[in-house]
Amino acid sequence: MSMLVFILLSVVYFFQVTPIIVKQEAFTLPTIGYRLTGTHLKTKQTQSTFFCANECVRMDECLAYNYKHENGTCQLMPTADLSKAEPDDEFQIIRKKITCIDQPCMHGGTCHDEPTSVNDVRGYKCTCPCGRCGPNCNKLHFGQVENACIYLFNAGYQKVKSQQECMSFCWDTQGCRSADYINSQGACWLNSVTGDEEPLTMDCDKWYPGVAYLFFNCTCDA
Ligand SMILES: *[C@@H]1O[C@H](CO)[C@@H](O)[C@H](O)[C@H]1NC(C)=O
Ligand SMILES: *[C@@H]1O[C@H](CO)[C@@H](O)[C@H](O)[C@H]1NC(C)=O
Repeated sequence: MSMLVFILLSVVYFFQVTPIIVKQEAFTLPTIGYRLTGTHLKTKQTQSTFFCANECVRMDECLAYNYKHENGTCQLMPTADLSKAEPDDEFQIIRKKITCIDQPCMHGGTCHDEPTSVNDVRGYKCTCPCGRCGPNCNKLHFGQVENACIYLFNAGYQKVKSQQECMSFCWDTQGCRSADYINSQGACWLNSVTGDEEPLTMDCDKWYPGVAYLFFNCTCDA
């Protein structure tokens, strides 16, 4: 009995047979008749698409693979971008699903693994903090009140070229909750409070023409 186990283990070791641990949900359905172009991480002959998937799973850089059933050609690819695919009748593309283990949520977003469509590489959803939106929380989301400002509660100052840049500066500055942006001067004043906590000065443009109060918006578009 133990001899048999030994032989089996030797076979596994000698031929480098690796047990298949790939779950079907770990990959999208194949995109048939296409091949991803560009540099391959690795090319191998495999017995089936599952062995190729297994290779891809074990390599962090592998995001997809090209597979040719006819002769078992397995090309591991560092991209899953279908816009870089070329028609090729002999191949199909199988893309690896991104899950929370890959830490896709940025800027303090919370990740939840979620079953998605079989054709979607995203197997997760991010819950973004106030002021961040988009699938990976990479988009700033803010609103403005024209001619208004707070200006008494400065948490920082910087010259900037746009509202976007001003709120990006606020996001990166500890203690910043909102900003006064003076368009005519390219001036970005950071506030340590929001207009919900302190009343806005509504005729601020008397002193600062083109001023706007900027605040993070917690509600993302659907
Ligand atoms: C399998 O097909 C590919 C692409 O058509 C070709 O480049 C490769 O030489 C073939 N490999 C074998 C082992 O037949
Ligand atoms: C916040 O953003 C949502 C979605 O874009 C928008 O409908 C809403 O009016 C905004 N709220 C404020 C206070 O600007």
